[in-house]
Amino acid sequence: MSKRILVLPGDGIGPEIVTEACKVLERLKSLTGLAIEMEQGLLGGAAVDATGVPLPEETLAQAKAADAILLGAVGGPKWDALDPAIRPEKGLLGIRSQLDLFGNLRPAILYPQLAAASTLKPEVVAGLDILIVRELTGGIYFGQPRGVRTLENGERQGYNTYVYAESEIRRIARVAFESARKRNKKVCSVDKANVLEVTVLWREVVEEVAKEYPDVELSHMYVDNAAMQLVRDPKQFDVIVTGNMFGDILSDAAAMLTGSIGMLPSASLDEQGKGMYEPCHGSAPDIAGQGVANPLATILSAAMMLRYSLGEEAAAQRIEVAVSRVLDQGLRTADIQSANTRRVSTSEMGDAVAAALE
Ligand code: IPM
Ligand code: MG
Repeated sequence: MSKRILVLPGDGIGPEIVTEACKVLERLKSLTGLAIEMEQGLLGGAAVDATGVPLPEETLAQAKAADAILLGAVGGPKWDALDPAIRPEKGLLGIRSQLDLFGNLRPAILYPQLAAASTLKPEVVAGLDILIVRELTGGIYFGQPRGVRTLENGERQGYNTYVYAESEIRRIARVAFESARKRNKKVCSVDKANVLEVTVLWREVVEEVAKEYPDVELSHMYVDNAAMQLVRDPKQFDVIVTGNMFGDILSDAAAMLTGSIGMLPSASLDEQGKGMYEPCHGSAPDIAGQGVANPLATILSAAMMLRYSLGEEAAAQRIEVAVSRVLDQGLRTADIQSANTRRVSTSEMGDAVAAALE
């Protein structure tokens, strides 16, 4: 039976990059008989425009019925002035939370061909291969109470709540330790335990879980130091595990180590391994519609989807090899261009990866 993939293009460059990932999947399907069926749905600003809400019931039902979800990006200035409750980003947070996609894997790998595209010195980033495991359905992103209230003196005050229950910490820690076992067996847990009680608990629970993984080396780091170490000596890390907001910030920093945020894929998994796959970058409204966006993060997200949710490891590798070949050929979108490379458009990049599958 074919596996069902729900494709959510979203906003900004979302539709352009998702088109290229689907092109690659379609080619793979015709080459290998890969049993997948793709259908489209609405999320984010596109859904607001069509239905008035960023996560329509129908999309949620489609997502629940699908075996995996491939997402572009959501948001843009057009919807910035909306009530926060129906902003496009709420659609993304809503689908993550409704499907319980708590485990967010963000691998930052430097393709050797892109060493010159990184803003860091080649020797600092050469061979970089780290995995950020970000908790995705808790922490300050979802904590209650939250809002903007008016104080007695008439001044407005904004507030959010940073909370983690033990069970939430435990399950994301397990994802990190299990991932480390398949890699270099090191986990660095990032917190702010010198200031925030919630992360004192985080540290304690991660240490408890670590006892089940004596073969994995655990270290702890405060988030400010981790931000510095990521740009000072990123290769000291193997797996980084952290909460929702710190993971959001650190993964953007890690992305630049790889040359461009346009290269970073992600997987967001539930307890059973069902997942949503999306590039780590946003909807980049400033370059939307120009055909210049880099589709590789989305194409690589499709590879992660084949690997983690569809059990198609060989197909996943085939895409990853194709991406590497295209980089070998010197093809580059604007964000990863350097001397002696050939600049290509979004769709030319997709065409090249599809062709390199053969
Ligand atoms: C990400 C994005 C999202 C997040 C936004 C668009 C809500 O920055 O996936 O990293 O903060 O999680
Ligand atoms: Mg982010």
